[in-house]
Amino acid sequence: LAVCHPGDKIILPRNIHQSAIAGLVLSGAIPIFIHPEYDCDFDLAYSITPDALETTLQRHPDAKAVMIVYPTYQGICGDIIAIAELTHRYNIPLLVDEAHGAHFSFHPHLPSSALSAGADIAIQSTHKVLGAMTQASMLHLQGTRLDPHRISQALQWVQSTSPSYILLASLDAARQQMALFGESLMTQTLELAKKARENIRQIQGLAILDFQQPKPGFFALDTTRLTVKVSELGLSGFEADEILRGQLGVTAELPLLHHLTFMITLGNTTADIEQLIHAFMILASMKHSVRCRMSDVRGWVSDIEQGISLLSPRETVFSPTETVTLEKSVNCISAELICPYPPGIPVLMPGEVITSQSLAYLQQVLRLGARITGCSDTTLQTIKVIRC
Ligand SMILES: Cc1ncc(COP(=O)(O)O)c(C=O)c1O
Repeated sequence: LAVCHPGDKIILPRNIHQSAIAGLVLSGAIPIFIHPEYDCDFDLAYSITPDALETTLQRHPDAKAVMIVYPTYQGICGDIIAIAELTHRYNIPLLVDEAHGAHFSFHPHLPSSALSAGADIAIQSTHKVLGAMTQASMLHLQGTRLDPHRISQALQWVQSTSPSYILLASLDAARQQMALFGESLMTQTLELAKKARENIRQIQGLAILDFQQPKPGFFALDTTRLTVKVSELGLSGFEADEILRGQLGVTAELPLLHHLTFMITLGNTTADIEQLIHAFMILASMKHSVRCRMSDVRGWVSDIEQGISLLSPRETVFSPTETVTLEKSVNCISAELICPYPPGIPVLMPGEVITSQSLAYLQQVLRLGARITGCSDTTLQTIKVIRC
């Protein structure tokens, strides 16, 4: 809203959070999507690469901004320094969704913060990783590529005119806590995360998402995010989550088809980590009969080409829609965002043409136990399309 006028182009990764799609609807901006890199072993989306961004900027030199997600939910960080340099070569701002990275500034063993890497704006969910109350977030601005007055104005359009002083006070308390004790709290958090990683890695049948060396879309890892693959045990992440939560007193942050991601934060203690390790030892020793077949979903992202967009997200939400069966929806324009988790990359965006190939893929991931989000019928019997 602060950087684009209706019809302006903005470059974004295809796995952008739905809040950015809301921004597209409100502003009338036109998304130019880049596919993030994809890890078929863990069935996870990484970041976009500087190379992919360069190709897109060459094709769309009139884009008004670039937006990235840094880090991902699983703590995966792309090459943000190269992305910032490239974006600035085109004299446009880099907007960073740093929802999961509010702690990065406070320890040298964490990835660089978006601002230190050159972002013009970074939005952090302080409530997710630091001590603020739910909903309380921060928007950080630096440099002169963005107009602070325009940002204040845009904020007024989307915020309540009656701010909650309780939430604001909680932000201030979280800020004070990190200003005074940030490094020691993060040292403790990183040590707890290391203990969890080292122990869980040794349990047979489990694998941990680790960072070895930079690869496309994966330049650094926030090790306070612990992603444990359980599918070799013959369990889906969803089934493992039920056992961990129901029987072993452990709650994962994000269970997916093949793995579960845990957030280790400054609120955790050694006892929590011991309970986590113990729970995984028990889980791995149980007999599980259903085998989760990784090979069935391999390589899907490359199969689904970026959809053809006939309407902008804004035009789509203001057009009349109808609900039709899946069979009848082929060649219609989707009125919905349809995103399977994993890997969290939308197969259909509002305004894109529905193809039989994308529907076949969605039905397959549903059969395999993935969740479909973003649409009104998550069982995918029906789909909302633009009325012809
Ligand atoms: C990548 C990403 N961006 C943005 C958000 C939205 O943040 P909030 O819930 O603080 O509005 C989330 C929330 O899960 C997220 O995962």
